[in-house]
Amino acid sequence: MKITNICCIGAGYVGGPTMAIIAQKCPHIKVTVVDLNIERIAAWNDSDVTNIPIYEPGLSELVGEARGRNLFFSTEVEKAIDEAQMIFISVNTPTKTYGLGKGMAADLKYIELCARQIANVAKTDKIVVEKSTLPVRTAEAIKNILENTGNGVRFQILSNPEFLAEGTAVQDLLSPDRVLIGGDSTIEGNEAIQSLKEIYANWVPEDRNVWSSELSKLTANAFLAQRVSSINAMSELCEKTGADVNEVARAIGMDSRIGSKFLKSSVGFGGSCFQKDILNLVYIAKSYGLNEVADYWEQVIIMNDHQKRRFAGNIVQTLYNTVSDKKITFLGWAFKKDTNDTRESAAIYVSDYLLNEQANIAVFDPQVKGKQIFNDLNYLNTRTIEENKNGITVFEDPYEACKDAHAIAILTEWDEFKTYDWQRIYDNMKKPAFVFDGRNILDAEELASKGFIFSSVGSSK
Ligand code: NAD
Ligand code: UGA
Repeated sequence: MKITNICCIGAGYVGGPTMAIIAQKCPHIKVTVVDLNIERIAAWNDSDVTNIPIYEPGLSELVGEARGRNLFFSTEVEKAIDEAQMIFISVNTPTKTYGLGKGMAADLKYIELCARQIANVAKTDKIVVEKSTLPVRTAEAIKNILENTGNGVRFQILSNPEFLAEGTAVQDLLSPDRVLIGGDSTIEGNEAIQSLKEIYANWVPEDRNVWSSELSKLTANAFLAQRVSSINAMSELCEKTGADVNEVARAIGMDSRIGSKFLKSSVGFGGSCFQKDILNLVYIAKSYGLNEVADYWEQVIIMNDHQKRRFAGNIVQTLYNTVSDKKITFLGWAFKKDTNDTRESAAIYVSDYLLNEQANIAVFDPQVKGKQIFNDLNYLNTRTIEENKNGITVFEDPYEACKDAHAIAILTEWDEFKTYDWQRIYDNMKKPAFVFDGRNILDAEELASKGFIFSSVGSSK
C-alpha cells in the first residue's frame, strides 16, 4: 500500500520528534499527531515554535518548517484514525503501579485503549505500528482486540521500536544505526512491512534495515543501562582504592570489543525507559521461571539506586554529618543534558534523600520549569506538597541559586555549567565551599585552586 496519510497516537518525546522527521522527509505524506492531552497539543501548535512542549536541539526548526504543511497536531483522535492508512502507537507504557506485576511489568492500559479506539473507528484496512516499547507478544494481543470487532476491516500489526535518545533525538532519527521492523510472515504481513520500509527508505539506507522483534528493544536498553551500572560499580571501588574511574573507562574503552560509549560514571542513570524496560525484562524472565536471568538484570537497577543514595549520603557525610537547614544548590534537574525531560532523573531521588535530612535545596536547570520540579517531588509522595514547597526553591539565575550555599551538586551535565564564573560563585558561598560533581564535568584542579572542596564520582582526589 502506498502510504499518503499517517496518524500517530501520542504526542510525546517519541511521537512528536519521530513524526516531525517523517513529515520533513516525506512531503507527500500527511502526518497527524494526536493526543488526549489538550495542553500538550496546544503547545505543539503554539504560534511561537520555540514553545513546543519538548526541548530537543533542532526540533523547533523542523516543526516550524513542516507544521501546517504536512504535519498537524490535533486532539481529534478519531478523525485522524479514520483518515489514516497507517497508525503509529507512541503512547506511554509506564511501569505498573498496581495489581499483578506492580512495580515491574509495563502498564499496557494506554496501548489497549488505543487498540480499542482504532477497532471502533476504523472503516478501512489499516496498518498499525507499535512504536512504544512493549513486552514480547504484545502485537498478538493488539491483533486479537482489532480482529474481534467483526466489521470486516483488516489490520496488519508491525513492531517498529524506537531507539532515539533524548537530547540527540533529531540526529538519532536522521541517522539511525538500525531500523527494526517486525511483522507477520504472510503475504499481507510482508506488504505492510514493505509499506513501512518505503517510508524509511526516504532517508535511511536500505542495507541498514534488520528484522527483529520486540525483545531486541528491551535488550538494547538493558545492555546500555548495564554498562552505566557496571562503570558506576567500579566508581565506588575507585574511590576506595585511589584509582580514577575516568581513567579506567578510557583504558577499557580503547578495547574495540568493549568500545568507549556509555562508560561515563555518574550520579546514576535516569530517563523514562532504562529502569522501566529492565523491570519489564525482569518481570518477563520471572514469569518464565528464569530467576537467575531476572536477578542478573535486576542488579542493574539495584546498583543504580545505590549510586543515587551513595551520592546523596556522601554530601551529608562530607558536610559534617548534617545538612539540616543548609542550602544545597543543585545545578541541573533534567535526567541528562539537552532535554527538559525529568522522568526518573537522579536529581529527584537525591533531593528526596536530602530533604529527609532537612536540607534547603535550591535548583537551577536551564530548561526545566519550577512547576515540573515540584510535580516530580510531589509524585514521590514522601512528604506533603507544602513541605516540598518549603524545602525547595527554584531559581532562574545560576549565580543567585548558588549564593550563600554550603554546597553545590552537579546533577545534569549541561555544557554551560563548565563555563560559569566559578570564582564569583565561590566568593558568594558559605565557607568551606563544597562542590559535588555528579557528572564529572568540572575541572577538579581548577576548582580546588579557587578554594573549593571538590569531589567527583569515582575519584578520591
Ligand atoms: P510520553 O509520555 O512523552 O508521551 C506519550 C503521550 O501519549 C502522552 O502525551 C499521552 O497523553 C499520550 N496518550 C496516552 N494514551 C493516549 C490515548 N489513548 N490517546 C491519545 N494519546 C494518548 O512518552 P514517550 O517518552 O514519548 O514514550 C512513548 C513510548 O516510546 C514508550 O513506550 C517508551 O518506552 C518508548 N520510547 C521512549 C523513548 C524516549 O526517549 N522517551 C525512546 C524510545 C522509546
Ligand atoms: C535511551 C537509549 O539510549 C535509547 O537508544 C532508547 O531509544 C531510549 O533510552 C528509550 O528507549 O527511551 P535516553 O534514556 O533518552 O535513551 O538517554 P541516554 O543517553 O541513553 O541516557 C540515559 C541515562 O543514562 C541518562 O541519565 C544519562 O545521563 C545516563 N548515562 C548515559 C550515564 O550516566 N553514563 C553514560 O555513559 C551514558
